[in-house]
Amino acid sequence: MCGIVAYTGKKREIVPTLLDALVRLEYRGYDSAGIAVSCPDGIEILKTSGKVKALQEKVSSDWKEKVKDAVAGIAHTRWATHGPPTEINAHPHTDEKKNFALVHNGIIDNYSAIKERLQAKGVKFSSETDTEALAHLIAECYMGDLCNAVAAALKQVTGTFGIAVISRDSPGVIVAARKGSPIVIGVGEDEAFVASDVSPLLPYTKRVIYLNDNDIAVVRPDRIDIRNMDNIPVSREVAHIGWDIKAAEKGGHEHFMIKEIFEQPEAIANALRGRMDTELGTSKLDGLNFSETDVAGISRIIIAACGTSLHAGMLGEYFFEDLANIPVEVDQAAEFRYRNPIIQKGTLALAISQSGETADTLAAVREAKLKGAIVASICNVVGSTIARETGRGVYLHAGPEIGVASTKAFTCEVAILLLMALKFGRAARLSRQSGFALISEIEKASGLVKNVIDGAQKIEKIARKYARARDFFFIGRGYLYPVALEGALKLKEISYIHAEGYHAAELKHGPIALLDENVPVVVMANDLPGKDKIIGNLQECRARKAPVIAIVTEGDKDAKKYSDDFIEIPRASDFVTPLPTVVALQLFAYYTARERGCSIDQPRNLAKSVTVE
Ligand code: AGP
Ligand code: GLU
Repeated sequence: MCGIVAYTGKKREIVPTLLDALVRLEYRGYDSAGIAVSCPDGIEILKTSGKVKALQEKVSSDWKEKVKDAVAGIAHTRWATHGPPTEINAHPHTDEKKNFALVHNGIIDNYSAIKERLQAKGVKFSSETDTEALAHLIAECYMGDLCNAVAAALKQVTGTFGIAVISRDSPGVIVAARKGSPIVIGVGEDEAFVASDVSPLLPYTKRVIYLNDNDIAVVRPDRIDIRNMDNIPVSREVAHIGWDIKAAEKGGHEHFMIKEIFEQPEAIANALRGRMDTELGTSKLDGLNFSETDVAGISRIIIAACGTSLHAGMLGEYFFEDLANIPVEVDQAAEFRYRNPIIQKGTLALAISQSGETADTLAAVREAKLKGAIVASICNVVGSTIARETGRGVYLHAGPEIGVASTKAFTCEVAILLLMALKFGRAARLSRQSGFALISEIEKASGLVKNVIDGAQKIEKIARKYARARDFFFIGRGYLYPVALEGALKLKEISYIHAEGYHAAELKHGPIALLDENVPVVVMANDLPGKDKIIGNLQECRARKAPVIAIVTEGDKDAKKYSDDFIEIPRASDFVTPLPTVVALQLFAYYTARERGCSIDQPRNLAKSVTVE
């Protein structure tokens, strides 16, 4: 859900101002870009796949001459959710007559119904995006007032939006609106800006107005009117930004990683949005292109992934077996591709990859296809190689993940796996009632994660206490075994402390020889089946003088009394508990690495996407 910037005024050259502003949005990760300016004789547009640099190279001297009298403009860096990152899918999008141009962050959930209705009326679409439907809808609603047309159109859409719109009939006017995707207005002297965050505004103004959800703003160089969707004026204060540009890129956070940890309630909500059918007690994952018969024909699932995505896949195994009664095998992707796997009829090979470019996972997809498997993927990057080569799957909609240590991608992968297992379960023996009950648990996930984030300070205190340790163990059972592995990976990759994740029962088969007072053990002692066994393992650690940090369910006293420190997690269903639990471990790793002064967003030796074997 990427970057928007818009400008109205005569104090600056509009095109260079907007292009410079887009460069300051690049840190958010994107795949294509575009700009539209309103001139006396119409709207001029330039778009490109790839980077802003490619867009800058398209600005010819003829085009500059053509737009020299422009009075307002909008620009966008796209993070594709619907339609691959091509030039035609890049924003801005317009109506057929190019009377309106629109840039959009977010997802229009009901775009296909809108698109079908408009196409039936003869409206011609040019892109595969959800956004274009909104551009045509604004044109359909237009009766002479741009703000009223935008409001009327937005009332017909469901989903999330942060938008900026210009029109041929209202030179110098920008209409902006938001619901679920941030929009901020920059207030200048005889000029004004609209952007998706403050970073592109700071060289020009530090006076900003943050729109609230369902606000709609009419922005002119000398005045800004803000109303609600029913055209009733609302007053919003002008804030003063104290950040510098570096801080602004991270939303005021110190690192991308902590920004992305804190984004998880919203990211999980985006991953789930529009994908739960409370009527039938199942999930709607159209990108899988599976009919109920297809799903019923799946007799085995192989999950192939690497690193954090592999840990998510391990949770997927439990979910599919418990909910859909389908046997599952989880493979480290490099192992899968080289071990001559057996693929029978009805085998689904599911690749999980945030980047969609991990070489070993891509090779596993190709090997599975070669052996006749049905292939599908769970990816975050739309149009990535793994997404394209599987041809079917589910996008995370988590937004760009910049920090090398994967956080929001993991929780969104787990959420999507839960939805997939629900869908497969409902095609098997899972009743509507059980499906409905599970959905009501999944819907709590965002709030549970937010609850853990609200308790970050206590986690920071514990992390700083143990930050000098040289070795750690993370142990868990059942659904919390993959969570223990993920917690160990997070700690080791950003703090450089040697941390091992183990099944709690495995400790006594060797690793316990390493325990002493210098080796803290993080124990997943949540109130889930097997807790009594894990408390036994916890006591085994204590007996070797190892300091114990217990992850416990709020209100459950059992494990607390045997631990040196504890972190409380809100009570949730077994299926959902891994989400708030892993966020506590992400925070633990982050604050430990911060205490040790490590390079958190770009840890030594690591890349965000391992595109080599
Ligand atoms: C996790 O924090 C690491 N960045 C790494 O293990 C990562 O999960 C792994 O390389 C897989 O990446 P992918 O999800 O993009 O395929
Ligand atoms: N959903 C829109 C698209 O895929 C907007 C994506 C974004 O937020 O950049 O074009």
